[in-house]
Amino acid sequence: MAKNIQTMADHWLIKLFLGSLVLVNSQVNGASFVNITLSESAVSKGAVCLDGSPPAYAFDKGFGSGANNWLVFLEGGGWCDTTDDCLIKVKKSPSTSSTKNAPAASFGGILSPEQTINPDFYNWNRVYIRYCDGSSFIGDVEAVDSETNLHYRGSRIFSAVIDELLEKGLKNAQNAILVGNSAGGLATMLHCDRFRALIPNAKRVKCISDSGFFIHGKDLPNASGREQYFARTMALHGVAEFLPTSCTSRMDPSLCFFPEYLVGDIQTPLFLLNSAFDRYQISVTLKPYPADKPGWESCTNHTETCTPGQLQIIKEFRNTFLGTLKEIGDRPSTGLFINSCYIHDYLFSNPRWNSDGSPRLDNKTIAQAIGDWYFERSIVKLIDTQPDRPLDCHLL
Ligand SMILES: *[C@@H]1O[C@H](CO)[C@@H](O)[C@H](O)[C@H]1NC(C)=O
Ligand SMILES: *[C@@H]1O[C@H](CO)[C@@H](O)[C@H](O)[C@H]1NC(C)=O
Ligand SMILES: *[C@@H]1O[C@H](CO)[C@@H](O)[C@H](O)[C@H]1NC(C)=O
Ligand SMILES: *[C@@H]1O[C@H](CO)[C@@H](O)[C@H](O)[C@H]1NC(C)=O
Repeated sequence: MAKNIQTMADHWLIKLFLGSLVLVNSQVNGASFVNITLSESAVSKGAVCLDGSPPAYAFDKGFGSGANNWLVFLEGGGWCDTTDDCLIKVKKSPSTSSTKNAPAASFGGILSPEQTINPDFYNWNRVYIRYCDGSSFIGDVEAVDSETNLHYRGSRIFSAVIDELLEKGLKNAQNAILVGNSAGGLATMLHCDRFRALIPNAKRVKCISDSGFFIHGKDLPNASGREQYFARTMALHGVAEFLPTSCTSRMDPSLCFFPEYLVGDIQTPLFLLNSAFDRYQISVTLKPYPADKPGWESCTNHTETCTPGQLQIIKEFRNTFLGTLKEIGDRPSTGLFINSCYIHDYLFSNPRWNSDGSPRLDNKTIAQAIGDWYFERSIVKLIDTQPDRPLDCHLL
């Protein structure tokens, strides 16, 4: 079912070059902001952010034909793998570790309330759950370190906020989607079947992971770095008991954070949206060990400056990514949109999601591809196998 998309790069480069100014403005002008709700009820269940602040979410109520449909979005924002790393996260990245002073959330892309931008979901109940735990919403450690006051409670945040949403009407949902990007995209896969089970009467429940397919790549540079990073993160956040036994029973549980070992056992239909040249994975998780590191950062900052050897590593990443996907992507219920933009995260940006200059595969924007898959208007397995280097898609 793989599709080879030709001439796409040229087409974009011309179109986007002309169109980008307009897109930037319309996104800024058209942005819709939704205020944050702090979940005080979660706090009484011990569900708190890394720094002890309450979980938070932004909720835009559905209307019309969307009144009983729910889209729940799990924000991303990396992980932290040691006490020191989590302390740094709290200090330097409060937007992914705390809800103190949390600003209103920008609802673009799949969260947009505008029909032209978001034709299938604009009038659904749309919820954006803030990411503040450093564990992809899956840690649960009772003890609080009195010296640092760090809390590892991601799983409780997921459960407590979903409980609150069930009371607000999610329990009567007819259609529902659990979706997330990056670390939230991984969380989506980890929680997908649990979410499904919480709304047994819903007609159609599906999950979408945006840029959450972090590959193991055991023959690629820094494989042991990736393994150890996830293993430390899981140990620090007490993740083990929340992982599916279908994975933990057949391999070292510390590998069960890699989606390739999880998705085969997810029962709920899943959509994987990702670039085969995922910018985050290439620039961060593929970064070779110090010995061969020099120049990696400037290459991944500006891929036109990469040496042939560096481009070869990037191409091997792409081949491994597509190979890994091939093993698990051919279930009929699985939707795929795998393109070649040098991008990480697609879903909350109007220009990336649905615009004249949006990435297209088989002439479908991401919005069309996901809508067609969700409502079963067609089978959607779109994979761009053409370019052998990352494309600059000129998209914000
Ligand atoms: C959102 O918060 C701002 C600032 O506190 C307030 O002025 C505004 O009325 C709020 N909007 C809604 C819809 O509650
Ligand atoms: C290796 O992978 C880890 C985890 O993604 C990352 O933090 C690290 O920067 C990578 N590179 C090196 C040289 O450690
Ligand atoms: C790469 O980009 C980052 C973020 O913009 C910047 O901090 C860093 O200095 C850049 N590094 C190089 C080698 O260009
Ligand atoms: C692609 O889709 C657009 C509208 O979505 C349409 O105008 C255009 O003709 C289509 N192109 C091809 C080659 O089918």
